Amino acid sequence: MNVSEAVATRRSIRHFLPDPVDPVVLRRVLDKARAAPSGGNLQPWNSHVLSGAALARLCEAIAAVLPLGRAAHAPEYPIYPAALDGRYSASRHEVGEAMYAALGVTREDKKGRLAQFARNYRAFGAPMLMLVHMPRYMGPPQWADVGMWLQTVMLLLREEGLDSCAQEAWAVYQREIRACVAIPEDHILFCGVSIGRRAADRPVNGFPVSRVPLEESVTFVEA
Ligand SMILES: Cc1cc2nc3c(=O)[nH]c(=O)nc-3n(C[C@H](O)[C@H](O)[C@H](O)COP(=O)(O)O)c2cc1C
Repeated sequence: MNVSEAVATRRSIRHFLPDPVDPVVLRRVLDKARAAPSGGNLQPWNSHVLSGAALARLCEAIAAVLPLGRAAHAPEYPIYPAALDGRYSASRHEVGEAMYAALGVTREDKKGRLAQFARNYRAFGAPMLMLVHMPRYMGPPQWADVGMWLQTVMLLLREEGLDSCAQEAWAVYQREIRACVAIPEDHILFCGVSIGRRAADRPVNGFPVSRVPLEESVTFVEA
């Protein structure tokens, strides 16, 4: 698989097969991903990788607070800007609607939408979950570094025939996560990444996810 194929075949998977991921393979991926670039070579990425009983315990801990709804949410950073507008807001809306349409969940079916959202906290059935965190005092450039590392990990997973879904959804339950996983108190929890193999026949893994045309995000300046 070349880089273009890895980029083209990566998509956020929201229904995984239960097949275990060989820890040796994941270690190989994470070892290679250490080569990701970062400003000043800070390499601010840190992670905990959960599987087996550890992952099951975490999922149960979150299941216990899910019925409390937003009252239990305690994200340490704003997941989206308060005022998202224009094409950014449109894209967010569009991908959500495309996903629910693929699942046959209507706009009125609030229970169905919530149930799908709650699957975030089962790692969408994946056998492995990586929790990504970094020192609290790191700023926007270091968050960008962590993003570059994340994409490096996700592309290397494709090379191994594996799939992933980055999930900021975990950030809202950082308190429950910290009760289960020893993430340093002076680190901020950015996101989770579910890792496993895609259930290829599931519509939730196959709906089209659009991108804005190149001209909307790039300006070529020649003179
Ligand atoms: C940092 C990050 C966090 C994300 N958080 C979630 C999440 O919590 N739940 C989810 O279903 N998808 C999440 N996504 C997936 C995005 O919705 C997805 O990347 C986007 O819609 C583009 O689709 P694609 O990844 O399939 O190409 C996240 C993606 C990134 C990069």
